Amino acid sequence: MVLTRLFLILAKGLSLAAASLSLSSYVVHESRRSISTRWTPVRRAEHGVLLPLRIGLKQENLHSLEEYLLDVSHPNSPNYGKHWASTKVAETFRPSSVALGIVRAWLVDSGLESSRIELSSTGGWLHATVSVSEAESLLATEYYVYQSSEEDVEYLACKGAYHLPEHVSKHVDIVTPTLHFDAKMKRRTSPEFVGRGGQPGTSSRSHGPKVVGPIEDVSVSTELEDCNNQITLPCLRALYKFEYAPIASDKNSLGIAEYTPQAYIPSDLDQFFQNYSKSLVGERPVMVSIDGGTINNNETDKAFFEESNLDLQYSMGLVGKGQPVTLYQVGDLIINGTFNNFLDALDGSYCTFEGGDNRAFDSTYPDPAPGGFKGPTQCGGAPLPYIISTSYVHDETDLTPAYMQRQCAEYAKLGLMGVTVLYASGDGGVAGNDGRCLTDDGQAAEGAPRFMPGFPAECPYVTGVGATQVNPGAKVTDPESACEQGIFSGGGWSNVFAMPDYQKEAVQTYLEKYPPPYPADIWNSTGQSRAFPDIAVNGANYLIVVQGKVFRVSGTSASSPVLAAILSAVNDARLAVGKSPIGFINPTIYSAAFEGVLNDITNGSNPGCGTNGFAAQPGWDPVTGLGTPNFPKMLSRWLELP
Ligand SMILES: *[C@@H]1O[C@H](CO)[C@@H](O)[C@H](O)[C@H]1NC(C)=O
Ligand SMILES: *[C@@H]1O[C@H](CO)[C@@H](O)[C@H](O)[C@H]1NC(C)=O
Ligand SMILES: *[C@@H]1O[C@H](CO)[C@@H](O)[C@H](O)[C@H]1NC(C)=O
Ligand SMILES: *[C@@H]1O[C@H](CO)[C@@H](O)[C@H](O)[C@H]1NC(C)=O
Ligand SMILES: *[C@@H]1O[C@H](CO)[C@@H](O)[C@H](O)[C@H]1NC(C)=O
Repeated sequence: MVLTRLFLILAKGLSLAAASLSLSSYVVHESRRSISTRWTPVRRAEHGVLLPLRIGLKQENLHSLEEYLLDVSHPNSPNYGKHWASTKVAETFRPSSVALGIVRAWLVDSGLESSRIELSSTGGWLHATVSVSEAESLLATEYYVYQSSEEDVEYLACKGAYHLPEHVSKHVDIVTPTLHFDAKMKRRTSPEFVGRGGQPGTSSRSHGPKVVGPIEDVSVSTELEDCNNQITLPCLRALYKFEYAPIASDKNSLGIAEYTPQAYIPSDLDQFFQNYSKSLVGERPVMVSIDGGTINNNETDKAFFEESNLDLQYSMGLVGKGQPVTLYQVGDLIINGTFNNFLDALDGSYCTFEGGDNRAFDSTYPDPAPGGFKGPTQCGGAPLPYIISTSYVHDETDLTPAYMQRQCAEYAKLGLMGVTVLYASGDGGVAGNDGRCLTDDGQAAEGAPRFMPGFPAECPYVTGVGATQVNPGAKVTDPESACEQGIFSGGGWSNVFAMPDYQKEAVQTYLEKYPPPYPADIWNSTGQSRAFPDIAVNGANYLIVVQGKVFRVSGTSASSPVLAAILSAVNDARLAVGKSPIGFINPTIYSAAFEGVLNDITNGSNPGCGTNGFAAQPGWDPVTGLGTPNFPKMLSRWLELP
């Protein structure tokens, strides 16, 4: 134990760590798999700088999460549809007092007075304000100040890895701030905003749906003949045989998540509805403001409004006047918000789960800046909808595996509670945002050779939604292909998440019948990792109104809210006959009960990283998943389930 390199690092530090070393040897607790080239360590952190050290304790029963989820989501399970109350979820996963005792004892033995150690109210994490040198000793690591090439903030983070005594490591999930760019130093002033590490992809201008326009050749009357050029509400209704009048809207709910500074423009909704869904003129989404989320229409750049306008014009337009759509507007105008900020508001137990959020990826309130949100970070209290659609995507390398696994577990918990979580699968084909791919050593770079999966669609407890198109010159009744309109459906195999049981057969069939023609190291060819997307919906040439003008947009950004609207109608019909909402749909759509229900997409591909990507083929494929909706068939199958 004493002769390790680790000991040498410790010996240079304080005496703090020596005591813990006598208890058990240190092990690597978490290490950086890769770091985006945009982060550069500029200097060692000053020893006296104070850090909000947070230690997330391991939850009980987490290893059974998938089993519990399948129990309520698999159509063959006797408990199908018997979703859990949030209190049952919180109780089932609460960390044990044994874990708490061991971690606390380690901190005290290491020389931290117990008066400095705070326990969160739910017992999920321990918190202490420590100096950089104390943290370096406790975690056997070195802190550096990092600068990003893309944003105006400095972060404090460990280099490479951090360590914990073996007997402590077993009971800890995550320690922050460590590897995840948690501790923000100061804001440099810079006019060019691009978006910070933890902010969902589309917050940066280039990651929204691909937009063409303004366009002049818009015809409202002949739109069904024109669906190959421009998708409108009637095209989508025709494509997916989607006609439905809500009957249980008082029981039903549908949520769209948007991240400030993105916002929608109310008058644009009316101009859109005027042409395509007159009865909706004057209707607005029901806004739930999270962490100071606000509808700011003062920006002049249309990029601020494309995503929200698209999502709301199409989800509201399709569900119709009877069914309110809830808009979750996340984050204030200064530090904005992230997926985790949203999840905290939906499920208060997530705020402290595994040590809580990552303080730099995720926004922490109150925000002291002028105009910033002055309340605390919202924990719980936001209404839980039955369906949530999110059209934002991260590259897998934007985040650490631990960060993604923590968030992914939360999606499983939402599924346990009966929520359907939909995420756009990304618009770069097998590449990530802005065409970034993986280098041989796991960095993100343009022109790199390896495929870049997108998160959260690669989380096995999320339904990843890819994009299709009506082929050029084709009719709305012709089979669709994978979308190839300047955007390509995100898809492939995760490098972080293992393959869930529900998709094994479908994915194995693809791998055996249509083996991808690529060297085994440019994609995750193990056959053991999560494959996505799960399903697809048209994502090509949507007409939207932004700032009073008509544009054509393409992207999985469009596909996800449209699927949400269609699934919401299924929920409506089930709720109307006293059944549960459909919840986590993946085990159902991959099951024998759903054979032949979706329209199989067998043409097109998702190029990226200098390749043709994967090919759509009969059955599941990593471009369009199992295919596109056929609403009447989906409805009848889901009504047959208990
Ligand atoms: C809607 O109709 C107006 C005229 O009533 C027209 O100027 C506008 O381009 C139309 N928008 C769309 C999206 O078709
Ligand atoms: C937008 O501008 C108006 C008028 O200048 C101002 O009153 C309002 O506070 C601004 N809204 C936001 C969200 O900044
Ligand atoms: C939040 O959005 C605003 C408006 O675009 C931007 O100026 C700011 O830099 C963003 N903040 C962060 C922390 O990304
Ligand atoms: C492939 O995915 C698995 C997760 O299922 C992961 O453990 C493995 O490291 C990945 N391979 C590469 C080369 O990233
Ligand atoms: C396949 O898609 C391409 C467009 O991407 C289209 O030109 C072609 O006609 C399609 N073929 C079939 C059989 O649908």
